[in-house]
Amino acid sequence: MTLYPKLILDALTNVRYPGTGKNLVEAGMVEDNIRIEGMKVSFSLVFEKPTDPFMKSVVKAAETAILTYVSRDVEIQGNISVKTMQTPRPEVTQLLPQVKNIVGISSGKGGVGKSTVSANLAVALAKLGYKVGLLDADVFGPSMPKMFQVEDARPYAEKVDGREMIVPVEKYGVKLLSIGFFVDPDQATLWRGGMASNALKQLIGDALWGELDYFLIDLPPGTSDIHLTVVQTLAMTGAVVVSTPQDVALADARKGINMFTNEKVNVPILGLVENMAWFTPAELPENKYYIFGKEGAKRLAEEMNVPLLGQIPIVQSIREGGDNGRPVALDEDSITGRAFLSLAASLVRQVDKRNVEMAPTQIVEMHK
Ligand SMILES: Nc1ncnc2c1ncn2[C@@H]1O[C@H](COP(=O)(O)OP(=O)(O)O)[C@@H](O)[C@H]1O
Ligand SMILES: [Mg+2]
Repeated sequence: MTLYPKLILDALTNVRYPGTGKNLVEAGMVEDNIRIEGMKVSFSLVFEKPTDPFMKSVVKAAETAILTYVSRDVEIQGNISVKTMQTPRPEVTQLLPQVKNIVGISSGKGGVGKSTVSANLAVALAKLGYKVGLLDADVFGPSMPKMFQVEDARPYAEKVDGREMIVPVEKYGVKLLSIGFFVDPDQATLWRGGMASNALKQLIGDALWGELDYFLIDLPPGTSDIHLTVVQTLAMTGAVVVSTPQDVALADARKGINMFTNEKVNVPILGLVENMAWFTPAELPENKYYIFGKEGAKRLAEEMNVPLLGQIPIVQSIREGGDNGRPVALDEDSITGRAFLSLAASLVRQVDKRNVEMAPTQIVEMHK
């Protein structure tokens, strides 16, 4: 394979600058001094400000784009010269000091409604009067921009104490940031290992989340580097695991629970959510059809000794609400709206219970 600059430029059109939504080439961020020697490539990206909050993620995305779209064999030389250096982010322990509770939402496998539950929980908590932030960390399928109908929103940056901070998008009373704002969802192959983790750290630590009662994180399904990044970056209050009632989903949910509770990670399980618990047709509201089996998640909760936070039925409006960017939890008079409000209330109860268990006396003892 012979490399030439256009190949590199074409690859870089796959990366967009989140600040403007334009791709790097279009945004004029690629200097025209691309140097190629055999399979070695060097190039420079230009950023306007030394404190650009997207800098690291964009640089990493550019490297990955070249490896993905040009060739795995390209050797990108270390001298991708970004004109300026980013001020370092504060230490982990100082991250999000104004956030009271950090809750990860996870599932054993994809498609069980993890994002639907995340979006509706966030809206329901906001309805209950809490200050809520939602971070869409599902690098394999970011869906919050669509579920909140903010696909075209561009999180912008604001300077605070000399640092450029990403300002979350606000919708339905929820502050929202998504990894999907960085790269087109159909280019999710770009998101691998270190790069995704790095971008996530920025979305957590370099964003103006402000004071929050609940910071929800829609995690990828299964277990991944992203889970590790999140648990290493943040002091999580606990995790919520979403599952459908069928056996395959439950087997994976069990693994998910074990991942959080294992000694190294040690994140408490706040509870299980049984999604798609039954189907009720609009014309026969009394009938419940247990399409995916009956009460599987409820039994798993008992078996693993974790609370069952709620059961959400399969209802067409829930799917439609996700597709058209209006979560059903906005409509508190509907059956589905009430289901999510009660789910939110039971999450709050579990979190409060945890916080009481972790009351200061005990913390003092732990530090002895
Ligand atoms: N309770 C439900 N009733 C009807 N449709 C649902 C329900 N939960 C999820 N869905 C739909 O199922 C699909 C997958 O849900 P999603 O939340 O994207 O799953 P995940 O995030 O776990 O991959 C979406 O189209 C969503 O609208
Ligand atoms: Mg999802």
